[in-house]
Amino acid sequence: MKKRYTVWFELELSCNLSCVFCYNHWHDGFTPRPRAASTDRALEVLEELFRKTTVDSIALSGGEITLVMDLERIVKFLGQKSVPVVLTTNGTLLDRKRVKTLKESGISTFQIPILAGNKTIHDNLTGVPSWEKAIRSLVYIKDEGGQAAIVFVATRANLQYFIEVLEVAALLGIDRVIFNKFVGAAGAGLINRGRLHIDDVDELVHVLKDANDFARMHSLKIELGTPITLSPTEVNQLDCVSWHKCPVGLDQSRFVLDGFGNLRACPQSKHILGNIMDQHPDDILHSAPEIALFQDHPATECRCLAMG
Ligand SMILES: C[S@@+](CC[C@H](N)C(=O)[O-])C[C@H]1O[C@@H](n2cnc3c(N)ncnc32)[C@H](O)[C@@H]1O
Ligand code: SF4
Repeated sequence: MKKRYTVWFELELSCNLSCVFCYNHWHDGFTPRPRAASTDRALEVLEELFRKTTVDSIALSGGEITLVMDLERIVKFLGQKSVPVVLTTNGTLLDRKRVKTLKESGISTFQIPILAGNKTIHDNLTGVPSWEKAIRSLVYIKDEGGQAAIVFVATRANLQYFIEVLEVAALLGIDRVIFNKFVGAAGAGLINRGRLHIDDVDELVHVLKDANDFARMHSLKIELGTPITLSPTEVNQLDCVSWHKCPVGLDQSRFVLDGFGNLRACPQSKHILGNIMDQHPDDILHSAPEIALFQDHPATECRCLAMG
């Protein structure tokens, strides 16, 4: 039986924003941006992916994926494979018409970062005014009957604004908020790690407890998208928060793919482990020395930080 995978497909590598936390490894001020694959090439890679594996869901990401002008072709192709497709976008380039087209083409969920309830803090983090456009996109998605999730990247600069973001979610009628604790393993994130990394775990837990109370009152769900070490008592107290361990490991069922078929263990890692056009994903993951080396690193932490 074919192994089932969740795939993070990084197709467009350029971006119209300049987020200070961004993990894209070419966002470090000196690494040239790699060449992106054409849509035709990406479709060949996806065909091969579906031939070799069973895909449970696929997230289209980047860079900023909405810069791909014929993105709808890819979404329609994935629709024919009956796989849920998530669009991870900064939301700044979506107008009502494009939201409608993308939804009709088959996007099941739009994931859009909102980094504070006020535009000053958000825009400081994204480097370019973007808060208003991102909020507007969320309104369009809701109006068009689409599924939206808000992504909060928790850094030292905005952790205290998480409750505001939950308020925005409640006001917009969005019940799913993904809390990604900042991981400074690559790109601008690595460069700005000193000022963005949250070292005060007690403060983080305090914010999550307040957020949990708010979420309970407003029927919101908070998902921890990156691993956070919590005690069993804390896990029990946070009944509106779902969390997961680092998926990186020899038996991992998630991976990152680019438009040429290059496979990586995690979006934060720049190490290419193999190419699915000439190797099976199962074989690439089972034989990767990088993964084997960090297999015993605690899964309650991000293993990519250790892998580099
Ligand atoms: C690299 S972005 C690409 C998609 C799109 N441009 C966006 O910003 O949503 C993918 C997701 O990773 C999040 N992200 C980026 N850098 C991060 C970091 N250092 N730690 C945690 N999450 C991060 C972004 O907020 C976004 O939700
Ligand atoms: S996090 Fe997304 S929007 Fe921000 S710079 Fe990176 S790719 Fe662009």
